[in-house]
Amino acid sequence: METGGNGSPFDLDRLRSHPWLADVVYHDRIESTNDTALRLASAHARVPLLVLARSQSAGRGRGDHRWWSSDGALTFSIAIDAASLDIPPDRLPLVSLATGLALARSLENGASGPSYRLKWPNDVYINERKAGGVLIETAPSRPPRLVIGIGLNVNNTMRDAPPEIAPRAISLTDVVGTTVPLTDLLVDVIEGLRREYAAIAVRPAESLAAWRDRCLLTGRDVELVVGGRAVQGVCRGIDERGAIRIATASGEVTLVTGEVRRASGILE
Ligand code: BTN
Repeated sequence: METGGNGSPFDLDRLRSHPWLADVVYHDRIESTNDTALRLASAHARVPLLVLARSQSAGRGRGDHRWWSSDGALTFSIAIDAASLDIPPDRLPLVSLATGLALARSLENGASGPSYRLKWPNDVYINERKAGGVLIETAPSRPPRLVIGIGLNVNNTMRDAPPEIAPRAISLTDVVGTTVPLTDLLVDVIEGLRREYAAIAVRPAESLAAWRDRCLLTGRDVELVVGGRAVQGVCRGIDERGAIRIATASGEVTLVTGEVRRASGILE
C-alpha cells in the first residue's frame, strides 16, 4: 500500500502543500469526517478544509443510512465557503450532481476500463453496484459553509464487507484487480470538484450533458420517496435544474429532492 510516512496511507505533505487547500486535518480513525468537518467549519477560519481519515467508526450516509468502509477506502470531507463557488442560488442544487460527476471523471482518469455510472443525484456505480456516495451538509456558520463528504470504495475489497452490504456494493480493486494510489486519486477528485463547480457556475449545460451520459437510471422503472410520498414510473433522466424526471401513469413528475427506493436491475 502507498504510504505517506507516519503510518498514514496518504502523502500528507503533498496534500498540505496543495495550493487550493487552506488546511488539512488527518485522523487514522474517526467517527465521521463529516461530523468533524461540520464542527471545525463552524468556527474554523481556514477553508477550504480537508478532513481525511483512514477509517471511520460511524460513517454517515444520506437519510438514516450508515456508510461502511475499511482500510483502502477514500473517506473524506471538504468544507468550503458556499459563496466562494459563485454559483447563482437557483443553480445550487447542481452542486450535488457536479460532485458525483467529478467522482466519475476522476475514477475514469485513475482506472479506465469500468463504466462509471451515476445514480441520481450523485451515487457512483460500477456494474450496477454502489462504489461511492456523497453526503453534503451545511455548517451553521457565518458565512455559510458547505461540507461535502465523500466515500469511495477504492482498494478495500468487498470480501471484507458485512453480509448486508457485500451483495450491493463494489470497490475499484474488485473490478480492476490492482490497487490505485489513494493520494493521486484524492488530488484528482479535489481538482475535479473545483473544475465541476466552476463549470456549473458558468456553463451548466455541458455538465448536465456529461451527467446524462452517465445516468444509471434512465429508462429504468424507479420508485422514489419524497416527503413520505412514493412516486413510481420510468426515469427519463434529469432536467436543466438537475431534477429527476419520472414518467408516471398520470404524467411526468420532476423531483429536486427525494430518495431512490427502488430501481429495476439494481439491488438497494
Ligand atoms: C450515501 O451514499 O448515502 C452517502 C455516503 C457518504 C459517506 C461519506 S464517507 C466521508 C463522509 N463522512 C461521513 O460520515 N459520510 C461521508
